[in-house]
Amino acid sequence: MRSLVAGNWKMNGLTAALGELGALKDGLAASSLACDVLVCPPATLIAQANGLVQGAFALGGQDCRAEASGAFTGDLSAEMLKDAGASYVIVGHSERRQYHGESDADVAAKARGAWRAGLKAIICLGETEAQRGAGAHHQVCAVQLEGSVPQDATAANTAIAYEPVWAIGTGKTPSSADILAMHAHIRACLVRRLGEAGQDVLILYGGSVNPNNCGDILNLPEVGGALVGGASLKAADFLAIITGIKAP
Ligand code: 13P
Repeated sequence: MRSLVAGNWKMNGLTAALGELGALKDGLAASSLACDVLVCPPATLIAQANGLVQGAFALGGQDCRAEASGAFTGDLSAEMLKDAGASYVIVGHSERRQYHGESDADVAAKARGAWRAGLKAIICLGETEAQRGAGAHHQVCAVQLEGSVPQDATAANTAIAYEPVWAIGTGKTPSSADILAMHAHIRACLVRRLGEAGQDVLILYGGSVNPNNCGDILNLPEVGGALVGGASLKAADFLAIITGIKAP
């Protein structure tokens, strides 16, 4: 399975930010890539971005509602994201879990909604600082995975993003040994839950990935790529991360 480097712009980006996507497209054309590339801009920009990037890299949403349509004011379905040009959607990001009270069951329903629409789901999980401090991080992630990843997930329809909450936007990252241990643990949980299919599902790392630390993190075994926040907003930084991935 090829690695995936994904950018999550979160609630950042007006029309002028499309210029960064144009620069990313030009930069990718000039490099030979060892990974797949995805940008998840705000949903308001997906359709315009789709016209601009013309398949040079994939586009995704940052969340979807589980249902396909209905009286859910302000929400977006996976079908709408797909219609706008998305091929992926992030579900269960810790900011959604924290600020919108999303449960593991909500996240699993969203992943199913993504699949129904033909989108690949990036299902996020990760522990808080207090949970890691208490030594509960492996257990917390196992429980989140069990509740958030539907049992018929495959490498074709799902990727996992391990994002320790305390590493998001803080400049702090776990040690390489801690990332290795957690990714191996998540792999074991995936195989227990999905059987053989769990062997191939990509496990991305997310949390303060930048051009300086990406080489150490992204070339670890079992790290199938990255989910990048702040450093995906500027094409030059994001390109430096993408080109930091070595071919297997
Ligand atoms: P940062 O890369 O800004 O820490 O954000 C990570 C993240 O939450 C990506 O989804």
